[in-house]
Amino acid sequence: MPLRSSEWYAGDTRNAYIHRAWMRRGIPVDFSSRPQIAIANTASDLTPCNAHFDEIARAVSNGVYAAGGIPLDLPVVSLGETQVRPTAMLWRNMAAMAAEEMFRANPIDGLVLLVGCDKTNPSMLMAAASVDLPAVAVPGGPMLTGTFQGMPLGCGTDVWRLSEEVRAGTMTGDEFIQSESSMIRSAGHCNTMGTASTMSLVAEALGTILPGVAGLPAPDSRLLEAAHQTGKLAVEMVAADRRPSTILSRASFHNAIVALAAIGGSTNAVVHLLAIAGRLGIDLTLDDFDRIGSRVPVLVDLLPAGRFLMEDFHRAGGLLGVLREVRDLLDPSALTVTGKPLVAYLDEAPIWDAEVIRHRSTPLVEEGGIAVLRGNLAPDGAIIKPAAASPSLMKHRGRAVVFDSIEDFRARIDDPDLDVDAESVLVLRGCGPKGYPGMPEVANMPLPQKLLEQGVRDMVRVCDGRMSGTAYGTVVLHVAPEAAAGGPLALIRTGDIVILDVVARRIDIDVTKEELAERTPDDSTVAGFANPSRGWERLYVDHVLQANTGADLDFLVGCTGSQVSRESH
Ligand code: FES
Repeated sequence: MPLRSSEWYAGDTRNAYIHRAWMRRGIPVDFSSRPQIAIANTASDLTPCNAHFDEIARAVSNGVYAAGGIPLDLPVVSLGETQVRPTAMLWRNMAAMAAEEMFRANPIDGLVLLVGCDKTNPSMLMAAASVDLPAVAVPGGPMLTGTFQGMPLGCGTDVWRLSEEVRAGTMTGDEFIQSESSMIRSAGHCNTMGTASTMSLVAEALGTILPGVAGLPAPDSRLLEAAHQTGKLAVEMVAADRRPSTILSRASFHNAIVALAAIGGSTNAVVHLLAIAGRLGIDLTLDDFDRIGSRVPVLVDLLPAGRFLMEDFHRAGGLLGVLREVRDLLDPSALTVTGKPLVAYLDEAPIWDAEVIRHRSTPLVEEGGIAVLRGNLAPDGAIIKPAAASPSLMKHRGRAVVFDSIEDFRARIDDPDLDVDAESVLVLRGCGPKGYPGMPEVANMPLPQKLLEQGVRDMVRVCDGRMSGTAYGTVVLHVAPEAAAGGPLALIRTGDIVILDVVARRIDIDVTKEELAERTPDDSTVAGFANPSRGWERLYVDHVLQANTGADLDFLVGCTGSQVSRESH
């Protein structure tokens, strides 16, 4: 089959001359038979978790050459989770759209996606799915474990824990600042089971990464070996015409959901997997996460739900070790980038440390996964991660204390006169995809200082935003529709009784249907919703979908393919 790139390079036309002449920079000039492999590189100094990617790109590049292809570095939009404001999620779809267009516009036959920090992974998978060129990802790996005062530090999770300790008076401000230089020990992304770790493991379960590679620590030399192998694999995938549409199926997403539950992964994976499935035309719904995942045991004892970190996880056997324990729950028909089924890699996948990765007979949590809640507060759904919640709060009635925006929350939460107690339910709105805009990770609201001082460490919280993958607590999040999209979350008032029943999968307010129908949002509530005047934010607010379908833009759902029918020279 002729290469796609030969549409640019083959023949003796003026256009082919131009395309070839500008690319003669010492690379092999046999444009007709050597696949052109773009290395979509999210390296950036402003994405610290991906700052080491140029070394990985070189290893991929050598692998592509070794297999007879031509490697081409393609810098793409990179999103540093800790750096960009107002929230990296606002730019996920933009990064995906920009990458998709560049993949399609350029003379390339296959893709290697270098992914790491939270949004760099789903944005590249969404782009690859929509352009449907042979594509394989290399995860940049988690960082090594840092320590402070003799104790391991979990990136993200321990920032929240330490800052709460300061607020509770059990740690000094000086000690807090001292811990800062110990938090990031090496190159790599966050080392807890946060969103980056979760997405790389879930992407492997999905079949988009060479099996056994996700979770390799960033400084581990085996990651560079894997990058080399991935470069070779990309060339093979072009020859085999192995595309996202031929690998990824409903079965792949089934396995990704099982993996997400078994690793106790980040709730952010729900919105990302829904968006990736949407690009492939696969009918994945929020309910699939509950149906497939909620009875899967959590086997991985990692922060934020457990004790260990990603370096321990890899040492203990990694994702394949986990999946071997739940093999009977996987769909054996799902393929991987190698062309072989995922389950083919599970025969030799031992667990080396059963403290970190539990055997099926001794799970960390009997039933993990994501619970999908519905009710008069979330008609289209909301989610909660039971493994990160307090068992005593899974069934709860409490008086709502409502905040219209994150700024409103910050201004009032520590007010000694705020009418709140341990039974109260903190409700934060205006934080959905449209309302903020960008659906920030604010749902795990810090608790009121006066309650922290009383020893309270968890409360029921409800929000239309997201929660950091490194956070924990009894948090009902991704409420859909969001308040700014006309959801009933805009109508709840301080003093209403919120009823949470996770077993019954319900989140309601004790207000009659008739009374709710008569209410309208207060002016102060509406004033909290974003109304940008121009640029990407305007486009985003006008077109973003709700969390229960993946928060993609309505016109980006689906696959366009790689065809470009016009040329300008
Ligand atoms: Fe990049 Fe956590 S900030 S993975």
